Amino acid sequence: MENINIKQSDGAASLAKVYAIANQKGGVGKTTTALTLGEALTREGKKVLVIDLDPHANASVHMSYFPETVTTSAHDLFFDDADFKSLWGKIVKKREWVGFDFVPASIRLSELEVDLKDRKNKGMVLSNSLDEVKEYYDYILIDCPPHVGVLLVNAIVAADIVLIPIQTDFLALYGIRLLFDTIKILNKVLPSPVKFRALPTMYDGRAGACRKILNLIRRKLGDKVFSTVIHMDTKFREACASGRIIFDVDPKTRGAQEYMQLAREIVRNENA
Ligand SMILES: Nc1ncnc2c1ncn2[C@@H]1O[C@H](COP(=O)(O)OP(=O)(O)O)[C@@H](O)[C@H]1O
Ligand SMILES: [Mg+2]
Repeated sequence: MENINIKQSDGAASLAKVYAIANQKGGVGKTTTALTLGEALTREGKKVLVIDLDPHANASVHMSYFPETVTTSAHDLFFDDADFKSLWGKIVKKREWVGFDFVPASIRLSELEVDLKDRKNKGMVLSNSLDEVKEYYDYILIDCPPHVGVLLVNAIVAADIVLIPIQTDFLALYGIRLLFDTIKILNKVLPSPVKFRALPTMYDGRAGACRKILNLIRRKLGDKVFSTVIHMDTKFREACASGRIIFDVDPKTRGAQEYMQLAREIVRNENA
């Protein structure tokens, strides 16, 4: 496992936009979006950091960082607040087969609820530590755990935008209610309301139910829904099983093309 030194990107003047990829429902495409969008953005010439903040560590395992052997991880951010700068240098990793930098998770992230119980401003820890690395990246993507708690709150507080993958099936809308409740509570205490964008995932245009749900999502959330829709594509599972990103499995496959389209839509929105 190789640690890297954070280097300033050439001419980087602006600070990274932080996207928390969140949905309380599991299996909706959060981890897939974090890794695939991360790679797509690097293919658009952006400097990207992906952070695995889920104690299940699915993104880390996908990147061949196995929780039992990882010694420095996102967990450290919540404890070593003496020197964030040198800490980032230790926890940011680089795999040669992807363009983005990566911070792995640790199963110990699940203990934070108890460990931070009496910590003041415990929802601000990630936001404060990200301030140290924002100048080195264009985008920071956080893969969030599928439950409400101190990690999700830290991610939402740190985020410029909460990206909510919504699986286009009929149970999907139940999952996001809890997330919107969390956002509503945070909006009462944060200086400005949380911005969010929804990403329809696992869409199957042949299924009437899918089409209905997509229409419903667009009706309810309007321009908060990305134009890009991610279809079902079996290549995602193949990519996951082989520890690769879909672009290495088949760059022409629909899923790969659609995440490229999403990356362009995000960059376009930023410049609009
Ligand atoms: N668009 C898609 N089409 C088909 N399978 C997908 C798609 N997106 C994700 N998957 C697969 O679905 C499973 C769950 O996705 P994942 O990204 O891990 O969800 P989450 O992080 O929300 O739990 C994984 O096996 C993944 O490879
Ligand atoms: Mg996941």
